[in-house]
Amino acid sequence: MIEVQNVEKVYEFGKVRALKRITLKFEDGKFYIIAGASGSGKTTLLNILTGIDRPTGGRVVVDGTDITAMGEKELRRYRLENFGIIFQFFYLVPYLTGLENVMLPMKYPRKIRNPEGRALELLRLVNAEHLKDKTPSQMSGGEMQRIAIARALANKPKYLFADEPTANLDWENKMRVWKLLRRINEEEGVTVIASTHEREFFEFADVLILLRDGEVHEVKGSP
Ligand SMILES: Nc1ncnc2c1ncn2[C@@H]1O[C@H](COP(=O)(O)OP(=O)(O)OP(=O)(O)O)[C@@H](O)[C@H]1O
Ligand SMILES: [Mg+2]
Repeated sequence: MIEVQNVEKVYEFGKVRALKRITLKFEDGKFYIIAGASGSGKTTLLNILTGIDRPTGGRVVVDGTDITAMGEKELRRYRLENFGIIFQFFYLVPYLTGLENVMLPMKYPRKIRNPEGRALELLRLVNAEHLKDKTPSQMSGGEMQRIAIARALANKPKYLFADEPTANLDWENKMRVWKLLRRINEEEGVTVIASTHEREFFEFADVLILLRDGEVHEVKGSP
């Protein structure tokens, strides 16, 4: 479970209060969508949940551990072992193949005994076995995002975070990626926390968290 306790984020530049003392709970095994208009704080919240960014107030407690109190090194290690992160712009390594990109996070921590076997299994899971030997420049956007999802799952994370994972995809691929995330949540038991501003995908969530101007405006579904 992830507990967000009175989290506040003030960006010094422009004195923006991007998050205004937010308190939220994310329960294990559920699918969460964080929604809200542009500038409402979705990316800020996700970056604080993953420890990529630090709050200016409050705490984030993951399974009883206060990650906001961790040092950089400890946090980086914690993230690699427990979190999978998918970005809007995929961030694949351009000179590595699909298979190599998925294998990359398994170099450290060495939690997975057979990285290549695990990577092939994940490529199958996201229907991307045919991309094994292709580099990102030879892939479509939807294909790159499927590889990025496989890579995020490499170390069997308990939590999968995704900030606008389908913003750069066409309709068909958007649908495909949301369905895939839902299937991963159901079949692998991974807790998914994803953001989108597109209403068409809200139905994929168990719980919808609506942000407005840095505040939790509404929580739909169970809390
Ligand atoms: N590094 C920064 N420095 C100053 N202000 C920032 C910074 N990052 C974000 N902001 C501001 O914080 C607020 C929340 O931004 P955030 O990126 O979290 O919104 P968002 O909901 O993800 O929007 P979008 O849908 O456009 O991605 C906005 O007012 C934004 O301008
Ligand atoms: Mg954003």
